[in-house]
Amino acid sequence: MRKYKYMASSTNLFRALADDVRLRLLNVVMAAELSVAELATVMGTAQPTVSRQLKILREAGLIEARREGTSIYNRRGKLLEDRELTTVLERRFSKLSTTKSDAVAIRRILDQRRKRSKDFFEKLAGRYGELTQPGGGWSALATGLAAGFSGQRVADLGCGEGALTLLLARFAKSVAAVDQSKAMLRLLHSRAKEAGVAPQVKTVESDFEKIALPGDAFDAVFFSQSLHHAARPECAIREAARLLRKGGTLVILDLARHDQEWVRKEWADQWMGFEEDELRAWLRDADLNAERVERLPMASATAPTDLTVLLVVGRKAGN
Ligand SMILES: C[S@@+](CC[C@H](N)C(=O)[O-])C[C@H]1O[C@@H](n2cnc3c(N)ncnc32)[C@H](O)[C@@H]1O
Repeated sequence: MRKYKYMASSTNLFRALADDVRLRLLNVVMAAELSVAELATVMGTAQPTVSRQLKILREAGLIEARREGTSIYNRRGKLLEDRELTTVLERRFSKLSTTKSDAVAIRRILDQRRKRSKDFFEKLAGRYGELTQPGGGWSALATGLAAGFSGQRVADLGCGEGALTLLLARFAKSVAAVDQSKAMLRLLHSRAKEAGVAPQVKTVESDFEKIALPGDAFDAVFFSQSLHHAARPECAIREAARLLRKGGTLVILDLARHDQEWVRKEWADQWMGFEEDELRAWLRDADLNAERVERLPMASATAPTDLTVLLVVGRKAGN
């Protein structure tokens, strides 16, 4: 049965290759994935003629069609994974009188595609954020950045419902999700199960000032919008430093000092943000080197513009 199938496809193959127009077409498709209209432009023939020849090449397994929405592109077929076959074909292609001019026509088509993209983004500069972004915007960006923690042991202090924990857990070796709230940890546990990352996530019910985790055991420790809830933030930072291995990184995202009293009532905030200098001093006291303490440009169009986010990056001495 296998032999019969092979014989049948060999017949198709020899028939497909026994024609210089089809050889030329194959040469073009092997150089670039093109639509029928583009192939017709390169070949200087009508589209129905190209379609007819493509069908024969397709039946032989030399090319295959790939659908992109309403467009169909033609590309190398599985048969062309055979290196011996492609070597023979390339030798034959070099003898075709059209090879050079076809290469010029292909380059022109690809240049048009590049130009379309370039012109679009030239005009878009400055308006990008206003458009619906098919690529997922901030959440996709955050996921990509979380991939930078692949294989690491991280801790998310004040994890809440776990937006950050769940991002990190897709890549990290382990994520210790620390929170004082049983309800938050329960919710996070079920969300981690749903997302298929539960094995990497360990929930830890602890106060920031005394965390039930071993010291020198984490590559990175985060406080994301949680430090302003700590009774004694300087002690929480010392505790975070204890968890880090030598050379490990502390990342704090919090609010810069502000005067928005409402966040104390509505969000139970203990501290109305922090001064950059006080954070630097707390890091120094915890033997952490403050590599960055800076104000971020407002990250979300929905966030109040009079609150500024501070980013702190600290490193534990050693390596
Ligand atoms: C505003 S939420 C931040 C959630 C999350 N980190 C984020 O970025 O989406 C603050 C979390 O910190 C926790 N928290 C506040 N004080 C804490 C403390 N002293 N020890 C441990 N967790 C604390 C709260 O229970 C809450 O879940």
